[in-house]
Amino acid sequence: KIGAAGDKLGINLFVVGGFVRDLLLYRKVDDMDIVVEGDGISFAKSFALMCKGRCNSHKKFGTAVVVLPDGFKVDVASARREYYKFPAALPTVEMSSIKLDMFRRDFTINTMAIQLNQEKFGTLIDFFGAQRDLKDKTIRTIHNLSFVEDPTRVFRAIKFANRFDFTIGKLTSNLIQNAVRVDFFKNLSGLRVFSELRQILEEDDPIPAIKTLETYGLERVIHPYLAFDNQTVVLLEEVKKALAWHDLLFLDTPYLRWSIYFMVMIRLCSPKIVQEIADRLKFSPTHQRIILNDRIKAEQRLEILEANPPKSNSRLHSILKTFRTELILYMMACAKKDETRKALSLFYTKLRDIKVLIRGEHLITLGVRPGPEFKRIMSSVLKARLDHQVATLENEIDFAKG
Ligand code: CTP
Repeated sequence: KIGAAGDKLGINLFVVGGFVRDLLLYRKVDDMDIVVEGDGISFAKSFALMCKGRCNSHKKFGTAVVVLPDGFKVDVASARREYYKFPAALPTVEMSSIKLDMFRRDFTINTMAIQLNQEKFGTLIDFFGAQRDLKDKTIRTIHNLSFVEDPTRVFRAIKFANRFDFTIGKLTSNLIQNAVRVDFFKNLSGLRVFSELRQILEEDDPIPAIKTLETYGLERVIHPYLAFDNQTVVLLEEVKKALAWHDLLFLDTPYLRWSIYFMVMIRLCSPKIVQEIADRLKFSPTHQRIILNDRIKAEQRLEILEANPPKSNSRLHSILKTFRTELILYMMACAKKDETRKALSLFYTKLRDIKVLIRGEHLITLGVRPGPEFKRIMSSVLKARLDHQVATLENEIDFAKG
């Protein structure tokens, strides 16, 4: 259908980038990037009409997004020759619009296109040796100024190498070292660094990528004082285990995976440095609260847990009840004793969601007036429930009476 929409307007259209790369790597593909040689917005509107989808367009950039009735997203961009400025040191050469569009991209593996027009449907276009690099499992830039054009690509190189278990090509690796030496990153906004770092830390197993970041000295792009010790990798591995445990039991519960790895990465920094990092990376108030305040509290509570293992469920609950998933998992990773990990797991799997059955109206019937007394009784009923002293609503009401 999509090809027919292009044919109707007489324009060439291609599916490009990550979609083609993932297709050739037999990986799951989610959304689709389309490049049209011509007016992308007219194409997107016509395509949306044909397949009863919704279309949002950005005139300024010549881009549009079509959302199909089943939720599948198709991003559409216009390839137009005049829009691209070559980096000054590159020779000007004549290229077709699609080739130019691919030339603007970061790594060879992201530069393949498949034509969708009906007559040439399925033709794979590979201008820069992407198939060879996929076969060789190598991340390679298209030209030597790629990181000058966009230094965030250094982080992307590491993300892709880690995700696909590829190596970074020799020349590309030298270009990264050069980018670090000359500090291409000094004008890069903290927000962009954070966006890249976060994507790396959200990958299934970010640990090899974190090690590679350190090998290139890129942790210093986050903050000059950021440093790892030999415990860092050990703790990162513990984070991985804690997250795997969590995801197995609570498959679809969302949480900030990246933040737990990140807390381990910054754990040697003083509060002042962590504040500077939070400012540089433009953390949201929630991120600040987790990384700055709650992390310190969690470390203190963890010490209490290890020094004085709680003897009752209610005590365990009162130590941990204010912490979000991320902090419980962070404590699990940092815990030194198995007993502590078990306690954290008991809290998270069993105690966290325990609620009392008794309601305000029951207390009113018992003659209690709403106010602090209400709260006190409710929390002592909860304590009794956590410690298995009450089982039914009647038990709770009797307990409240007493
Ligand atoms: N791109 C680039 N330079 C960047 C970011 C992106 O050249 N700094 C190009 C890449 O060629 C990529 C395309 O823009 O194929 C889209 O980027 P992105 O949305 O990150 O998609 P994917 O490559 O599919 O990455 P992911 O699988 O992580 O979504």
